[in-house]
Amino acid sequence: MTKAAITGIHGYVPDYVLTNAELERMVDTNDEWITSRTGIKERHILKGEGMGSSHMGAKAVAGLLEKTNTRPEEIDLLICATTTPDYVFPCTANLICDMVGIRNVGSFDIQAACSGFLYALTIGTQFIETGKYKKVVIVGADKMSAITDYTDRTTCILFGDGAGAVLLEPNTDGFGVLDSIIRSDGVGQNHLFQKAGGSRYPPTHETVEKRWHYVYQDGPSVFKFAVKNMADVSAEIMERNHLAGSDVAWLVPHQANKRIIDATANRMGIEADRVMMNIHKYGNTTAATIPLCLHDYESQLKKGDNLVLAAFGGGFTWGAAYVKWAY
Ligand SMILES: CC(C)(COP(=O)(O)OP(=O)(O)OC[C@H]1O[C@@H](n2cnc3c(N)ncnc32)[C@H](O)[C@@H]1OP(=O)(O)O)[C@@H](O)C(=O)NCCC(=O)NCCS
Repeated sequence: MTKAAITGIHGYVPDYVLTNAELERMVDTNDEWITSRTGIKERHILKGEGMGSSHMGAKAVAGLLEKTNTRPEEIDLLICATTTPDYVFPCTANLICDMVGIRNVGSFDIQAACSGFLYALTIGTQFIETGKYKKVVIVGADKMSAITDYTDRTTCILFGDGAGAVLLEPNTDGFGVLDSIIRSDGVGQNHLFQKAGGSRYPPTHETVEKRWHYVYQDGPSVFKFAVKNMADVSAEIMERNHLAGSDVAWLVPHQANKRIIDATANRMGIEADRVMMNIHKYGNTTAATIPLCLHDYESQLKKGDNLVLAAFGGGFTWGAAYVKWAY
């Protein structure tokens, strides 16, 4: 049976580093609080007028094509997961394709907040499994600094900017995305969202004054849902694929809060040295966290490793994937 194997990975973060020390000068916070509550030490921020998520996504995709010796003309489809698209339209996937020279193929965005990459991966996998396409690129790219209120200490410490991309190709030897679960529940819609800028509340002076164009988060409520659902869905995908904790080489969790990651790993019976963690360097980059983890840990991955990818985000949305590493 044909599965979609990840045959390449690349990541990109912008140069500017926003440290906890700099945040201490911006809002009433401190390094000790941020580190103990979240695990975050610094994040990268995309600076420059007219720069959007697409610019980071294009860097990740260009690097991916180079690393995998793939010409842009060979790509059949590109899907971009993002919550911070450059424009309402056209979609960021279109813009990335244009920047890297991918033309005349389907490209579209997926919006599932922090679960976006898992959603996009699940969708891209279907096109490979059915035999319709041979090379599909999945990008996660978010410029969270564009919607972060740097006067709100409860949210501005959490987010960073970045992008990551994977190449999916057919595999008939048992490697690739072997299973995935995607879930959502609108019960979360008022706990974590950006109120204005869409069709309900188009931009006005009032929406700007009320700071409705920034991320709003009820942190403690989101925390409770995230801990429960990320752990539940990870346990579910392990159970239905008959995986014990010892069978999993790596947990690849969305990087929102180190405490949420630790709770998920604990529930799965996975020790800390098999949990991918880079939240201290990048913070929460939304759709980019999982591919940035794979990118950072690529040299430690071995062919045949069992990976469980898990995410949770606004909506609420959440999900998990079981991947047998293909190289
Ligand atoms: C945001 C988050 C780190 C806050 O941690 P928490 O332990 O829940 O902290 P609380 O919100 O209960 O705040 C505790 C206290 O710290 C204060 N505080 C909040 N942010 C602070 C900061 N940056 N620096 C210092 N103090 C801060 C609060 O005002 C509160 O003070 P009080 O007790 O006097 O009212 C945590 O709730 C979280 O990670 N939530 C989920 C985030 C997430 O996963 N989001 C994305 C999903 S993809």
